Amino acid sequence: MSNSISDAKVDDVKALVELEQLVFIPSDGMLNQISFRYHIQKKKNLLLVARSDKLPYQLMGYILVLLHKRSARIYSLAINPEHQKRGIGSELIKASINRAQEKGIMKVSLELRKDNSVAFRLYESLGFIVSGVRPDYYQRGDDAIVMTWQKK
Ligand SMILES: CC(C)(COP(=O)(O)OP(=O)(O)OC[C@H]1O[C@@H](n2cnc3c(N)ncnc32)[C@H](O)[C@@H]1OP(=O)(O)O)[C@@H](O)C(=O)NCCC(=O)NCCS
Repeated sequence: MSNSISDAKVDDVKALVELEQLVFIPSDGMLNQISFRYHIQKKKNLLLVARSDKLPYQLMGYILVLLHKRSARIYSLAINPEHQKRGIGSELIKASINRAQEKGIMKVSLELRKDNSVAFRLYESLGFIVSGVRPDYYQRGDDAIVMTWQKK
């Protein structure tokens, strides 16, 4: 199946909220309709979605990257469980790094739960390295690992 990655549109908000509820639990700090709409309309940050070319109204995943002057932060990444393990997460990360680089950003970081081994391996395979730990970062008191990618 071929996929396409593009900027999210206001019409995607409903599907984004559904995806968020499917993938995360409230204690993860879920994004809501207002936040998705804000990021789509404001266009300051990157909110990219992956669609199947066969079912263009269905979202397979999204990534939200907050852009600063010289660095970016992957704030959220979610792939519909039905479409996981097909390389879509990897494609979204690569696309957002490319877009960030076009804006002159050479450093991208993120926080992830220390037991999220799938995400850890995925980021590691794309050149991210562990750059720190944030104790008690999540609502249930779990630590976060900080990973960073830097243009060589
Ligand atoms: C983490 C997450 C985003 C990964 O998305 P994904 O699309 O499944 O990621 P990928 O397919 O690119 O890679 C994941 C695994 O699939 C494997 N994979 C990729 N393409 C594959 C294919 N065609 N066939 C089989 N496996 C494949 C990768 O090698 C990787 O395997 P590994 O974990 O054993 O190294 C997804 O599992 C998710 O949404 N999880 C819940 C939310 C979450 O944890 N978000 C990240 C918080 S930072």
